[in-house]
Amino acid sequence: MSTPHIAAEKGQIAERILLPGDPLRAKYIAENFLDGAKEYTHVRNILGYTGTYKGVPVSVQGTGMGIPSISIYVHELIHEYGCKKLFRVGTCGGMHPDVHLRDVLIAQAATTDSSIIRNIFGGSINFAPIADFDLLSKAVANTKKLGLRATVGNIISVDRFYDDEIDNDKLRQYGILGVEMEAAALYTLAAGAHVQALALFTVSDHLLTGEACSADERQTSFYDMIKIALETAI
Ligand code: HPA
Repeated sequence: MSTPHIAAEKGQIAERILLPGDPLRAKYIAENFLDGAKEYTHVRNILGYTGTYKGVPVSVQGTGMGIPSISIYVHELIHEYGCKKLFRVGTCGGMHPDVHLRDVLIAQAATTDSSIIRNIFGGSINFAPIADFDLLSKAVANTKKLGLRATVGNIISVDRFYDDEIDNDKLRQYGILGVEMEAAALYTLAAGAHVQALALFTVSDHLLTGEACSADERQTSFYDMIKIALETAI
């Protein structure tokens, strides 16, 4: 079988899956963190792999950028391939003075300006996309066990990367820690399908200070985030 966007047979994709936006990051994770990883799809150059982590089958698949793109992959992964524990592993912009470049953020909730999410509920309800509590508490425990640090709280999933109208001061006032473009869709689709989801981020740039990570710096904090996600997945 295959879906319009994923060319895999049933059973080739594990129930536990990591979801970076960038397909080449999926390849990097497969090659550096999983044992015996094999590519199962490359439709549209969106790469997917399955291997094992500490003996447990784990997949990793690119999702592209933005809510429309991740929604396609997450829908097919859940409803066609039976994925049950889904982890977004991405980068975000820091929004808050408590958050620093290279920090790991874990999204307890994902506020959003997305009309896609609002329209699921008929346009009048502001659904609150939240992390699966079991995965969130395990991720926090694993962060400590690994001797790492992560900040947990509310982030915002925006529809526009280039957005002059968004009120960052207001978002900051209400405790929004970071900005990215996918987590609210992952949490909403997972809730609707009764499966578990968690979104973790590395802060790659900061909206308050204008700082941005070098490629090397990104890699180190990226490593911490992947370890936390994998330990929580198994
Ligand atoms: N905005 C939106 N998405 C992002 C950002 C940002 O500044 N940084 C990383 N993902």
